[in-house]
Amino acid sequence: MSLPFKHLTSAKQLTPEVIESIFATAEEMEMLSESGRGDTLKNKVIALLFYEPSSRTMLSFQSAVQRLGGGMILAQGREGSSLLKGESIEDTIQMVSGYSDLIVMRHPEGGAAEKAASVSSVPFVNAGDGGNEHPTQAALDLYTLKKEFGRLDNLHIAFGCDPLHSRTIRSLATVLSQFEGNKFTFIGPESLKASEDLKSLLDESGVNFEETDDLSKGVEADILYMNRLQEERFVDHSEFEKYRKLFVLTADMLQDKNVLIMNPLPRIDEIEIAVDSLPNAAYFKQARNGVPIRMALLSMMA
Ligand code: CP
Repeated sequence: MSLPFKHLTSAKQLTPEVIESIFATAEEMEMLSESGRGDTLKNKVIALLFYEPSSRTMLSFQSAVQRLGGGMILAQGREGSSLLKGESIEDTIQMVSGYSDLIVMRHPEGGAAEKAASVSSVPFVNAGDGGNEHPTQAALDLYTLKKEFGRLDNLHIAFGCDPLHSRTIRSLATVLSQFEGNKFTFIGPESLKASEDLKSLLDESGVNFEETDDLSKGVEADILYMNRLQEERFVDHSEFEKYRKLFVLTADMLQDKNVLIMNPLPRIDEIEIAVDSLPNAAYFKQARNGVPIRMALLSMMA
C-alpha cells in the first residue's frame, strides 16, 4: 500500500482515508514485530537528520528502520553538521538526497520542512519543524485514540497548556478537525492561546472549540492532551518561569474521572508523577505506538 503523496510535511495531508491506510499497515507492523523482523527496507538507506533535540521521534524512527531491515545515516545536532558553517537547508537536502532513499528531518525553524521537501528528490518526512508541525506525532496520537476509544469522531479533546507554541497540539487538532462531531477545549494562559491561523482553520472546518485558563476543565473532557510549556520557544523566559508551576495536572484532580491523559512527552512539570500509576495515564503506551506508526510510514513511503 502506498500513500497519495511523496513528502509528508503537514498534518493536513493526513485525511481520514490516509489515516485508515496507515493504521492498517501499522497493525501489520505490530504483528511483524511480534514474530521477528521484516525486510521492506532491505537495500534502502534512511537519512535521519535531527537538528533539534529528540528522544522518542529519533529513537522510534531508528527502531522502525532496524525492524524493517534498512540501513541508516544519521546527523544529530547543528554543531556536528555544516549547518553551523551556514549551509542552507536546501543545499543540505539536495546533497543528502544523493546519499539516501528517504529523508526524515527535525529542524528548529517553522517552515523548514516545506523548504526541504521542495528540493528533495527522495521522499521526505517532517519529524517536527519549530512550532509549526509534527505530523508523524499526530499519526501516532490518532492511533492511540483509535485503540482507546475505537473511533476518531464525536470526541471532546482538551489541549493544555501551551497551545500557542505546541506543534503536536497544532498537528493533532488539524487532523481531528476533519472528523465529525469533535469538540476542543484549549487550556492555557491568555498569552499562550492557540494561534489565529489554527483557529481560522477550525472555524472553516466548523469545529466547536472554547478557550480557558482553567486546567480543571480539562478533566471533564474525554481526552486531556497535556504538553509541556515549550521553553525553547518563549521570547521572554520569565514568562515561562511564571507559568511552569501553575499548569500542573495532579492525581487529586483525577479522582473519579475517566478522562484519558495523553502527552507527546517529554514530561517536565505538567503532570505529577503520581498520575503515572492511574488507569487514566496513556502517555507511555502512546510513545510505544510511535514504532509501528513510523514503520508503516517508512514502508509506505520509501
Ligand atoms: N514527542 C516527541 O516529539 O518527543 P521527542 O522530542 O523526544 O522526539
